[in-house]
Amino acid sequence: MGKENAIKIKFYSGENIPLELHKVRIVQKLNLVPIERRLEALKEGGFNTFGLKTTDIFLDMITDSGVNAMSDNQLAAMMRADDAYAGSQSFMRMQKAVEDVLGKKHLLPVHQGRAAENIISCAYIKKGSLVPMNYHFTTTLAHITQYGGRIVELLYDEAYKTTSTHPFKGNMNIEKLEAEIQREGVSNIPFIRMEASTNLIGGQPFSVQNLRDVRKIADKYGIRLVLDASLLGENAYLIIQREEEFKDATMAEVISEITGMADIVYFSARKLSSSRGGGICTNDVKIYREMEPLIPLFEGFLTYGGMSVREIEAIAVGLYETLDETMICQSPQFIEYLVNSAIEKGVPMVTPPGVLGAHVNAMEICKHLPQTQYPAGAFAAAYYLISGVRGMERGSLSNQRDEYGNETYADMELLRLAVPRRVFTLSQIKYVVDRLAWLNDNRELIGGLKFVYEPPVLRFFMGRLEPVSDWTEKLIAKFKADFGDSL
Ligand SMILES: Cc1ncc(COP(=O)(O)O)c(C=O)c1O
Repeated sequence: MGKENAIKIKFYSGENIPLELHKVRIVQKLNLVPIERRLEALKEGGFNTFGLKTTDIFLDMITDSGVNAMSDNQLAAMMRADDAYAGSQSFMRMQKAVEDVLGKKHLLPVHQGRAAENIISCAYIKKGSLVPMNYHFTTTLAHITQYGGRIVELLYDEAYKTTSTHPFKGNMNIEKLEAEIQREGVSNIPFIRMEASTNLIGGQPFSVQNLRDVRKIADKYGIRLVLDASLLGENAYLIIQREEEFKDATMAEVISEITGMADIVYFSARKLSSSRGGGICTNDVKIYREMEPLIPLFEGFLTYGGMSVREIEAIAVGLYETLDETMICQSPQFIEYLVNSAIEKGVPMVTPPGVLGAHVNAMEICKHLPQTQYPAGAFAAAYYLISGVRGMERGSLSNQRDEYGNETYADMELLRLAVPRRVFTLSQIKYVVDRLAWLNDNRELIGGLKFVYEPPVLRFFMGRLEPVSDWTEKLIAKFKADFGDSL
């Protein structure tokens, strides 16, 4: 572990190519079905990529959540899992890994990241509470508002620019944070939330210096600091790449510096440790006791929290593997390659390249579509249609309506193409870029979408839509003209 493993490999040709430092030992066959079938699949799925089935999907880039490739050691650990309702040795191994990697002694297990958000919100959010944060995640906002709370997002202006060279777009705006606390009053603010590798603005990290500044404000006003560590590994990797003070640091050093500043750390293990599950951890016994009774109520007994013991074993091993820079660098390096190659071909992408996925600026590509017709959702549907690649809309469709039922239009209309750890090959990434370039060149053929079924909460998961015109047929005709009988 540590610095000696941070291998940089140069090519004689001078090309900047990310090199896989793993080999494939188990494979899954993929399906690239004809474009006519892809249109049928879209209709069946309500023009929502969440409605598609993997039998109709070539590259599944909807998320990295729960689909990162697992290591041989994780799979081996799953075989020795200790099945016990209470006092399982598997849980003790997870506890030890949490203490070693995240530096927190007390662990509350939960079945996934949003379950942690439910427990934390249930324990600390009262009607009217305000939670300042760098930016929301969909499930975080849904849980805080469910318990009557509100949020305020305090990024710097630079974060809202899709093209930027700012290395830390996930930084909290410190001046605004202090002003917001003074305006609202400390008693109404149960905690400040920082999200590592801010998901919804393009997987953008915060710096250690910024977190130190947030911690100072938290101390000054006596407010708890909660860290969403779901994408902590990649945030730490980018700190090593981009923050001068940490250029020679190890992953373990950066991670412990970050988690050491938080009163509560929670995570989705679907992301953090390439497995499925989650946890909340702290060194403060009082905080632990405040949330402890909620685990058996919502999740399961305190030594499994709704998870299978096999997954608990995989989390324990996966947490240690997060400290391996040669493992954690693979996804951000592939994303960087994807983003830079797409930009070379004229596709507008969010920069600098972040983590978890590449983000296409659908607002720019679909300038001809009003936000009322969900440009990012339309682009996601169009891209699946012409490539068989499933991405995720991250724009107004992913937003929830305000308390009066009005649309709240997103700051950015993005298509996220997730690059789970160690899943795709470089030729597949080249295919992704090729089809993106084609769609961008034919962008005027993309039309809008409208809801035909809109659920009241987290509507982007189950919502059903349809095209506002016959644009899908026109897009298919152009695809056929350019690609002939190629899939
Ligand atoms: C930053 C962040 N927080 C929380 C969650 C919720 O985690 P889960 O999907 O495990 O419920 C996610 C999931 O993508 C996430 O990216």
